[in-house]
Amino acid sequence: MNERSSIDYKLRKKKRKSKRRRLKFLAIIMIIFSFLFIFKDEVIDRFFFYRAEAAGAYTDRGILLVNDSFVLDKKYKPGSLRKVNIDFVGNISSEEKYLTEPVADAVEEMFATAKKEGIILVGSSGYRSYKSQKDIYLRDLAAKGEEYVSAYVAVPGSSEHQTGLAMDITNEANWMTGESTEARWLRDNCHLFGFILRYPEGKEHITGKSYEPWHLRYVGKDAAEEIYTQGITLEEYMGVY
Ligand code: DAL
Ligand code: ZN
Repeated sequence: MNERSSIDYKLRKKKRKSKRRRLKFLAIIMIIFSFLFIFKDEVIDRFFFYRAEAAGAYTDRGILLVNDSFVLDKKYKPGSLRKVNIDFVGNISSEEKYLTEPVADAVEEMFATAKKEGIILVGSSGYRSYKSQKDIYLRDLAAKGEEYVSAYVAVPGSSEHQTGLAMDITNEANWMTGESTEARWLRDNCHLFGFILRYPEGKEHITGKSYEPWHLRYVGKDAAEEIYTQGITLEEYMGVY
C-alpha cells in the first residue's frame, strides 16, 4: 500500500467510525424518546404531579375534603384516571370524560341500574385539571359575573372535579333542575353506589356553594349511606365546618 492509499484507507475508516457513532447516538436518543412516550403518564405523575397524600386537601378515613378552606395544589392530579363508559353531553373536553378507576366503575354501575329503571342519565363533566377549572372559572366570571361564580363555580384548586372523584350528571334534555325525574332518582339512590349529593339544598352556609342537583361526589358506600341517612354534608360528616 502506498502512502496515498494508506491515508485514504485511514480517512475512510475514520468516516465509518464517526458514522457508526452518529447512528449509535441516534439509536440511544430514539430509545430514550420511545421510553418517555410509552411511560409518559408515569413520568408526568412521578415528576410533575402530587399524589393525594401530598395535596393540600384534608383527608380523614380515606376521604378527601376539598372546598374553599382545603384546596388542592395546582399540580395535583389523581392517579388511575380512566375514561368512563357512559353517554356524555356534546361539546365537552375529552378530559372531562375521565374519573379515577373505582369511581368510573361506580358511575357505570349507577347509570346501568338507572337505565333498567327507565331513568336515562347523561354525564356532563368529570375530571378537570386545575387549568381547566381556571379556564371555566374565568369564562363564567366574564360571562355571568361574580355572584354566579361564587355560587356555582369553585375557585381553581377548590374544585372536587380536580380530584377525579366527582361527576356532574344531567338528563337527555340537559335541564337538571332539582325536581326533574333524574335528579330525584339520584337524590334517592346515589348513596347505594357510594355517591353523595355534594351541594344539597339548604346547606349552602356549610358547603359554601348553592344547591347543585347535578354534582355527585364519590365517598364510598359506607360514608355515603351515613351521610344520606343523617341528611348531612361532607363537611359535617368529617367534622370540619
Ligand atoms: N360546581 C362546582 C362547585 C365546581 O366548580 O367544582
Ligand atoms: Zn360539578
